Amino acid sequence: MARIADFSLTGRVAIVTGGSRGIGRSIALALAEAGADVAVAARKRPDLDQVVKEIEARGRQALPVECNVREREHLENLVKATTDRFGRLDIVVNNAGTNPTFGPIVDMEERAWDVVMNTNLKAAFLLSQAAARTMKERGGGSIINVASTGGLRASKGLGAYSVSKAGLIMLTRVLAAELGQYKIRVNAIAPAIIRTRFSEHLWKTPEIYEPAVKGTPLGRIGEPDETAGAVVFLASDAASYISGVVIPQDGGAGA
Ligand SMILES: NC(=O)c1ccc[n+]([C@@H]2O[C@H](COP(=O)([O-])OP(=O)(O)OC[C@H]3O[C@@H](n4cnc5c(N)ncnc54)[C@H](OP(=O)(O)O)[C@@H]3O)[C@@H](O)[C@H]2O)c1
Repeated sequence: MARIADFSLTGRVAIVTGGSRGIGRSIALALAEAGADVAVAARKRPDLDQVVKEIEARGRQALPVECNVREREHLENLVKATTDRFGRLDIVVNNAGTNPTFGPIVDMEERAWDVVMNTNLKAAFLLSQAAARTMKERGGGSIINVASTGGLRASKGLGAYSVSKAGLIMLTRVLAAELGQYKIRVNAIAPAIIRTRFSEHLWKTPEIYEPAVKGTPLGRIGEPDETAGAVVFLASDAASYISGVVIPQDGGAGA
């Protein structure tokens, strides 16, 4: 008998880009705790090997894949390596992201713009394309994009990053509209400041950190583990009729 609220991912296979630390690591571990086997992708092997150990300690299988998400061939290899190893692909989390510069968008170097767009937006487009091909054949899947509240509201000093995340939110909606017919659901989470290496500048600069906390009803920034539950939910059958949504994770700041 089907369960009414089935959060289990037992027997499912997931890919998490940027799964080696921060938010992606928490997501990879949470998916494993829910029962999924996980391919973790990032550029640096030692960090990947550490997460593999943590997934295996949870009784699940893990595959480390060295991958630069700015390279199309690496993304195609990621899907191939995952299906070769596990025989299926059910869940893709487009999480790897970057922001190399802070400052006004009008002063930004073109190269930095390209790095932001290629990492945060184009990679999700290419990996979703590659994943959708195999998900279509298998009869469905769930794609989850890690956007940002910066994609919902203009962030001064994080201009290109905001544009890339707004693009990722629209990519989420367009893919949800296109892929629903194949039983592929596409959703996003949009965290505000979460305490990771990536956001260090934001939570270590009092002029940024203090107003951010003041404007947050829960009175604090978020921790990486607090982002993962929504991803497990969106990946699971408990969210079987949910597609095209963006779940903010902002401690109530958008209220
Ligand atoms: N932290 C926040 O406040 C916050 C808020 C909203 C949204 N987000 C989003 O959450 C996601 C994760 O951020 P985080 O804070 O967890 O960052 P993080 O701690 O810096 O981790 C980033 C992860 O992405 C990987 N990565 C970076 N560039 C890559 C590339 N070109 N190819 C493959 N992997 C790459 C990193 O591994 P390697 O360096 O080894 O490749 C690492 O595993 C990003 O999309 C970010 O925009 C973060």
